[in-house]
Amino acid sequence: MIWKTFATLWVALLPATLAYSQAAATTLTIHADEPIAAVSPTLFGLMTEEINFSYDGGLYAEMVRNRTFHQTWEGVRYWYLVENGDAQAKMSVDRGTGPSSALNTSLRLDVEKADEHNQAGTLNVGYWGMALHSATSYKGSYYAKADSADLGPVTVSLVGDNTGKIIATATGPAPTTTWKKYDFTLKTGAIAASASNHLVLSVGHTGTLWLGLVSLFPPTFHDRENGNRIDLMEKLAAMHPAFLRFPGGNYLEGDHIAERFEWKKTIGPLVDRPTHPSPWSYHSSDGLGLLEFLEWCEDLKMHPVLAVYAGYSMAQEHVNPGADLEPYVQDALDELEYVTGGSDTKWGAIRVQNGHPQPFELTYVEIGNEDNFDKSGSYEGRYAQFYKAIKAKYPDLQLIATMPLKGMKPDVQDDHYYVRATQNFKDAHHYDKVDRSGPKIFVGEWATREGLPTPDFNAALGDAAWMTGLERNSDLIVMAAYAPLLVNVNPGGMQWETDLIGYNTMKSYGSPSYYAQVMFASLIGDHTVASSVEGPSPKFFYSITKNTPKKLLYLKLVNASSTPLPLQISFGSNKVMPEKSTLLTAKDTRATNSIDDPNRIVPVESSGTHAIGSSFSRTLPPYSIQVIQYEER
Ligand code: AHR
Repeated sequence: MIWKTFATLWVALLPATLAYSQAAATTLTIHADEPIAAVSPTLFGLMTEEINFSYDGGLYAEMVRNRTFHQTWEGVRYWYLVENGDAQAKMSVDRGTGPSSALNTSLRLDVEKADEHNQAGTLNVGYWGMALHSATSYKGSYYAKADSADLGPVTVSLVGDNTGKIIATATGPAPTTTWKKYDFTLKTGAIAASASNHLVLSVGHTGTLWLGLVSLFPPTFHDRENGNRIDLMEKLAAMHPAFLRFPGGNYLEGDHIAERFEWKKTIGPLVDRPTHPSPWSYHSSDGLGLLEFLEWCEDLKMHPVLAVYAGYSMAQEHVNPGADLEPYVQDALDELEYVTGGSDTKWGAIRVQNGHPQPFELTYVEIGNEDNFDKSGSYEGRYAQFYKAIKAKYPDLQLIATMPLKGMKPDVQDDHYYVRATQNFKDAHHYDKVDRSGPKIFVGEWATREGLPTPDFNAALGDAAWMTGLERNSDLIVMAAYAPLLVNVNPGGMQWETDLIGYNTMKSYGSPSYYAQVMFASLIGDHTVASSVEGPSPKFFYSITKNTPKKLLYLKLVNASSTPLPLQISFGSNKVMPEKSTLLTAKDTRATNSIDDPNRIVPVESSGTHAIGSSFSRTLPPYSIQVIQYEER
């Protein structure tokens, strides 16, 4: 993470007279000894789904695109025929044979002419290339069979797009006439890091070769097999996320019932996962399946917030409550058993067999997604049916409804907000007066949508204003998550504008909104304290939380105005010492970060003056988001 640290610079907290010309001061009075409400320990977390190439071509580190040879009207995309020298071959999809019943099609290569020096084969171009680094091992595998053992060995190579040079190569044994998996490792030497590379599989004899499930992985976070990209996992870790909501979003529902996230088809060996169409216009490999979501939680110490399919898909297809819905309810019960059950349960034992002996802890389960879009009005009945069945077996689980219900009070209600910054400035106090006797609130998706592919500074200001409201009301709001989280910024990578973290094949960056999230989640107390504000405060937003055992106060201060805000911060008779501050600011609302300019707007840390007192005169810079830590003395 890039943070600018100026140990003695205290720009943001300079006495007002030094930094800017003096205007009428706004006074913020803080009663540090008057707790108001407990802060939810799970307030800030992550919401993800397969959108914007978040997993395939994103977090999930697989380098081979369309590794299962899925065919569309455009053919087998991302795979091309290789005929070196005078080699001759034909490439087609064979729907009659594949490495498993789940993957029952394959790539068929009929080699009419080839020799050791003039090989024929196929190449894969990856997700906008393949990122290769110096002295790095890439682990791969493929399934293959041949019409006869005479076909000879299969050569696997990484080749530079622009140089045509082989960067790393390995030779596998001659495939037999039955399907078998072959593993290989490709190690690069001293090379300049680049994404302009592709993978070639070729043979030097005539005959027929069938290929299935071709895979290649770079080193992954925590060295997990079938794991995640290191740079993106590190960026997520820096957000201190308390939970992960998965698998969607629309991705849970699918456009059609047959295209929902069917968790049973996403577990076990990759070769047994049939893959499925996602609602975001591309096909999902399901390499990041149910167990991988849970392991992702484990890696970042997040609570899983599991969304179960609840009988509604987006093309207005729904399942009627009652007998029709029963198989879906049972499927959710099986899923909960897979996640939480011991090895003595049917689905717990399957999880153990899949490589995870320990059950996962689960508190929250969401029933569906955005069921307010279901025009049939069936959600009340569907939620009630899931609720009854799940509570009967798991009474402690908290069940989240995806819309307000009339007939019953759900444990938690999921509210979604996609707005402009002005709306968030107006709405920062939205939850201040909400009745506390209703359901707890999960703000399961929210974002200020300004800027693409990632938010600009105005969006970050809107987000920060909104987050002050989330913090202030976190007795009611148990969890909140920005969405969407990830976007591949390559052409065609984005389906939804304004996403928190951008990346291409080689690198990633955080938007200003990302840094605002990092700042808010990094320093948060266990309860809010009483406070009041007096004087002019246009576009000024704040929240104050206290870490009781450590006697630390965290002030989140947002000045969304184009002018500086002179601020008098008063602690009454309490004595405090400013310890440190982190400032995120920009010269213009449209300023932003990008893949080629990733550090234009990053948090600047400053150490405090360490002057003990009970009143401090500060000026908040224009367009600024700031977190100040005070220690009680
Ligand atoms: O975050 C993008 C989409 O917005 C989600 O899939 C859906 O739940 C919401 O409508």
